[in-house]
Amino acid sequence: MPVKKGPALRKLKEQFAIRCPEFDISANWVSDRKLINAHLDLAGKPAGKALDLCCGTGRVGRALKRGGWEVLGVDACQEMARASSRFFPALGGMAESIPFKPGSFDLVICRQTFQFLDIKKTLSGIARVLSSAGSFVVSLTVPFSGIDSEWLSKIHSVKQPLLLKFYTAGDLENELKKAGFRVREKRGLTVRESIDRWMKYSPELSPKIRGKVISMVKDAPAAYKKLHRVNVVKGEVFEDWNWIILKTIYKG
Ligand SMILES: C[S@@+](CC[C@H](N)C(=O)[O-])C[C@H]1O[C@@H](n2cnc3c(N)ncnc32)[C@H](O)[C@@H]1O
Repeated sequence: MPVKKGPALRKLKEQFAIRCPEFDISANWVSDRKLINAHLDLAGKPAGKALDLCCGTGRVGRALKRGGWEVLGVDACQEMARASSRFFPALGGMAESIPFKPGSFDLVICRQTFQFLDIKKTLSGIARVLSSAGSFVVSLTVPFSGIDSEWLSKIHSVKQPLLLKFYTAGDLENELKKAGFRVREKRGLTVRESIDRWMKYSPELSPKIRGKVISMVKDAPAAYKKLHRVNVVKGEVFEDWNWIILKTIYKG
């Protein structure tokens, strides 16, 4: 899982720059109250400095700030960092080389970005910038079980060619464990999404690919449709996305 460089990094930055102005309404999860509150809950009582790593438009960081944390953000895409910096200081920078001194943060939080990252480099950087009593909160959308895993991975690879890895909850926990992080608390929840909306706000994709993603959900295998509660209302396709949120500490 190498760090993105050259054309792949350029593509990633361009993709998020295009999506930035409408990112907050591009899917329900971005602003979902329950989901953001679950992150706040796991972050715990405000205890100093928090880094919103790969902050995007800063939805998680804004909530942390309102909760009493002193928040800083980092994002590879300058437009995203600029959008966040309307709410808290945010810099352009890579998760794989976090531009802060050792022990700078009491909390690092990273929502829905691990699939793009060189996980080994990112986790070793997080361990470096965390204070000794600090914690790392990470979240991702993952399959519900082995039943939907293969089909969901296919959908994601059509939707997002810049994916470095498709994670199950087990994969995520294994990577964290290998890097010396121990899971202290877990939350799981679902957020209902409109696939048509998700595609409407993915302007980087061709109409053909957008149509393909919608069909892959609408015409998914029956077991997938049952788990994701796929349904069509007035031609619009909806399904549940499964989220995992982990609070970890670094043990080395
Ligand atoms: C799906 S968005 C999630 C944004 C935010 N974490 C949230 O939950 O609202 C992924 C973000 O990660 C950023 N990103 C992707 N790869 C990155 C990297 N290697 N280093 C820093 N940021 C990265 C993108 O620019 C984008 O803003």
